[in-house]
Amino acid sequence: MPLVTTTEMFKKAYEGGYAIGAFNVNNMEIVQGITEAAGELKSPVILQVSKGARAYANHTYLVKLVEAAVKENPDIPIALHLDHGDSFELCKSCIDGGFTSVMIDMSSKPFDENVEITRQVVEYAHAHGVVVEAELGTLEGVEDEVVVEAGQASYTRPEEVEEFVTRTGCDSLAIAIGTSHGAYKFRPEQCTRNEKGILVPPPLRFDVLEDVAKRLPGFPIVLHGSSSVPQEFVKIINENGGNMPDAIGIPEEQLREAARSAVCKINIDSDIRLAMTATIRQYFAEHPEHFDPRQYLKPARQAVKDMVAHKITEVLGSNGRI
Ligand code: G3H
Ligand code: 13P
Ligand code: ZN
Repeated sequence: MPLVTTTEMFKKAYEGGYAIGAFNVNNMEIVQGITEAAGELKSPVILQVSKGARAYANHTYLVKLVEAAVKENPDIPIALHLDHGDSFELCKSCIDGGFTSVMIDMSSKPFDENVEITRQVVEYAHAHGVVVEAELGTLEGVEDEVVVEAGQASYTRPEEVEEFVTRTGCDSLAIAIGTSHGAYKFRPEQCTRNEKGILVPPPLRFDVLEDVAKRLPGFPIVLHGSSSVPQEFVKIINENGGNMPDAIGIPEEQLREAARSAVCKINIDSDIRLAMTATIRQYFAEHPEHFDPRQYLKPARQAVKDMVAHKITEVLGSNGRI
């Protein structure tokens, strides 16, 4: 099947109590690892491209890689999505350039400005058969050039969501309930420690999610910043020349709980980066004589595939849902 929008995926995910994984793509190995896992597990999937990914790999290369993945995996629905679009022009360029979904992220702007720019993007996107994700509330962490310092993030205000969705006409809404971008989602002082001395992050604000869901019945909610930062990969990185102290993510049980609710799209990027980096660092340590990129990119691609397969079956519940 050709590239699809997220409309049908989200409808089924909402009704079925699972979520679709949205994984960031930057090169061929990442596209292959993600779509091989989704293909084998018969899972719908969203491949998302950030402004930074476009600057790194070039729009046309990324679209062509995704088109190749669609051809190789004809049975599964695949959507191509712009992650964190920061202007009307960027969204337009992706809509004109073959994407089936875009995010306009004006979450750092005042409410009325967020509404106005989102509305303009929705008008253009819908006229071209493309769907739009918008955002209310801000996450901590780094996304493209925007850095939101710890303590500066704000949870989504449920009392704003109906007006926002009605005025903008957006198709899905990203909300802030305590997730955060990157591999350092919480400072140690925001966490407690379990009996083994391991950091335990503060729980997600499921009360905010429930309130939003009640006000927007049937409407797809999106969670950004949903990597879990698996400690086994952080350990491999640190044991092989890396330096990632206190890297910490969102516990997978909480994301699984979110996936059963109104959350239809869960964004994961950092865990893929960690899996690739850990695998390559370990490979170099074990094979110092190797220099052919295929030698270390092959296990790195396999690590992406294993990571995505794990997310699909253990966190998202989207396997067998085509
Ligand atoms: O939310 C941000 C994504 O992880 C994309 O990151 O802007 O470094 O490509 P990037
Ligand atoms: P992570 O950094 O938690 O993987 O979040 C990715 C994301 O939200 C992309 O938009
Ligand atoms: Zn994000």
